[in-house]
Amino acid sequence: MKQFERYLVTSALPYANGPLHLGHLAGAYLSADIYVRFQRLMGKDIVYICGSDENGAAITIRSKKEGLSPQEIVDKYDALFREVFEGIGISFDYYHRTSDPLHHETAQEFFKNLESKGEFVEKESEQYYDDSAKMFLADRYILGTCPKCSHEEAYGDQCENCGSALSPTELINPISTLSKEKPVLKKTKHWYLPLDKYEAWLREWIETGQLGEEQLHYPDEWKNHVLGQCRSWLDGGLQPRSMTRDLDWGVDVPKSIEGAEGKKLYVWMDAPIGYISSTKAWAKENGKDWEPYWKDDKTALIHFIGKDNIVFHCLIFPSILKAHGDYVLPINVPANQFLNLEGRKFSTSKNWAVWVNDYLKDFPGKEDELRYALIKNMPELKDSEFTWKGYQDANNTELVNNLANFVNRVIVLINKYYDGVVPDYDENLMITAAENEEDMAYHESEMLLLYDNLDSLCSALRKYDFRAALKKIMDISSLGNQLLQFNAPWKLVKTDEETVKVVMNLALQYVTAISVAIKPFLPFTSDKLRNLLQLELLQEKGELVDIMDDLAEGKNIIEIGHTIGKPTHLFTRIENSVMDEQRNKLFAGAVQEESEESQVKPNIAFEDFTKMDIRTATILTAEKVEKADKLLKLEVDLGFEKRTVVSGIAKFYKPEEIIGQEVLVLANLAPRKIRGVESKGMILMAENEEGRLSFVSPEKGWSNGFSVS
Ligand code: MF3
Ligand code: ZN
Repeated sequence: MKQFERYLVTSALPYANGPLHLGHLAGAYLSADIYVRFQRLMGKDIVYICGSDENGAAITIRSKKEGLSPQEIVDKYDALFREVFEGIGISFDYYHRTSDPLHHETAQEFFKNLESKGEFVEKESEQYYDDSAKMFLADRYILGTCPKCSHEEAYGDQCENCGSALSPTELINPISTLSKEKPVLKKTKHWYLPLDKYEAWLREWIETGQLGEEQLHYPDEWKNHVLGQCRSWLDGGLQPRSMTRDLDWGVDVPKSIEGAEGKKLYVWMDAPIGYISSTKAWAKENGKDWEPYWKDDKTALIHFIGKDNIVFHCLIFPSILKAHGDYVLPINVPANQFLNLEGRKFSTSKNWAVWVNDYLKDFPGKEDELRYALIKNMPELKDSEFTWKGYQDANNTELVNNLANFVNRVIVLINKYYDGVVPDYDENLMITAAENEEDMAYHESEMLLLYDNLDSLCSALRKYDFRAALKKIMDISSLGNQLLQFNAPWKLVKTDEETVKVVMNLALQYVTAISVAIKPFLPFTSDKLRNLLQLELLQEKGELVDIMDDLAEGKNIIEIGHTIGKPTHLFTRIENSVMDEQRNKLFAGAVQEESEESQVKPNIAFEDFTKMDIRTATILTAEKVEKADKLLKLEVDLGFEKRTVVSGIAKFYKPEEIIGQEVLVLANLAPRKIRGVESKGMILMAENEEGRLSFVSPEKGWSNGFSVS
């Protein structure tokens, strides 16, 4: 493995066009934050960069919706993002904005550089134009039917139903979202990046990690789903991609370039370059040099993103960086898949989301509880799901019953037995190390076990396996709980005070280790623990290396004679009623689907439909069912057999009227006893808005027993 001198870590720049929900957090931010805090604790030189993506159609569309100017929109959401990220403890070194002049200059410099080297291909093409709005339509301004899955509201660049990347001209029945009219095709000129020309080196770089002689990354360290997406793009053949757009909000194509009038940089020639401008802004404010972080080959560049951005970070942005020259390429792009919410996809437009700002308001002081539940379910390798039930269980059984319980027992007993002073102990005394009382261990060997656990925690983190790493923390806490359980100091104290000192000192070493190792995951809890232990708060400057070094030598990490604080509650139980409130809020807030759609039940699979055996049939006899004024008992002829069916149609049809009526029968409905009569099947009826029922029949004269599909 290559040794790096410094790390530059990025999280996808969020579009400043709407609040952030838990899906965003679990996608590109929490994972990066854990990784960065961990590397800081390992004493690494690491800079964590992000900022608001404030350009392009995403912003103007929102501004039309909210009746605010684009500037007002980006100001509003940029401010909200800063508040929310800070509230939930995302520890950027710098958070920038792409509306900043420094960014405009940086992106334009890139464009000029590539243009002057002849990297672009200028091409005239036909693009959709809205005649009444008098403008070319950005991909997102065009809706139509997806050619891949027939979803009727696919965007010009992507179908959110099946995830396919699209181009506007592929849409069936396109309409402009501005005028709701069919857009027309009109000629326009743009600058294209000929990705097809880069295909060969991109493939080599992705597949082998090599570029020429140099080994830049190790593909077996990359996630399979990331490699898989890259491969499928490469296998499909890369096409030249336009790097400019006809837009009115964003970074101008540099004026010095002919034909720049009215043209803006496309998001992928703009937003990722925001990582660079953000680094520049960080360097300026901190008296540093930004260049080594982007240009020195001892820099490890890592992009944290959601899966929808894979192609842009693995193929397009690297192409831009390499075309410019001098820039490093990412050593990894550990993209996450998607988080779902209570059985459905997060959807901003349908308001099916838990907004981070709402959570922070509703659960003050419970930031880490959310981080915990999200990390535990992080969609690292496949889509995963957030439910309030899962959140509650994680809190009550893991944070309260395991972690808080262990910490509390230790702090209480140290206060009770030793007045809060860390006890000295006899190194040669043995304690019980397992359920089996014969299995004994020394303080020192248990400290080495702790070291091993921290070591495997570190390797999980280096592999971006954050779920496993979090589990490791809980394992350490469980080991601590077992230590207390096996030795029962509260009993032993009556007969063997010296051994109790060994147990309690060791338990306190465990709590101290947790206070450090938990920092990347639950930073607020780390601070609470450090306060409880009366130790300095972590500055994230190599503290994990320090304790690992001590543990490896069998040294204590909290000193004998040090005085700790008084017990407080780390976590508290969350009651059902609180969860009910959140679920109600979610369901009540969800936007009902528009008119016709809202009347249709949720989609079913074709297989579900084929389970139904519907047959043509004829009613042979009909009579009233006693003491049931809605029901008729019918005998129907299904061709291959005759059956009794009870049907709730008595209010609408007299028995004698319907003899000989041709009907449709659901023939494989499980038999039911209705008012003492066994009913085998169901007559299909149409119901109007007043509740009136009508038979649904095949054409006159059809025979019985044919299946309907
Ligand atoms: N704002 C865009 C999105 O959320 C792009 C983010 S990634 C970046 O999809 F590289 F462009 F920053
Ligand atoms: Zn689709």
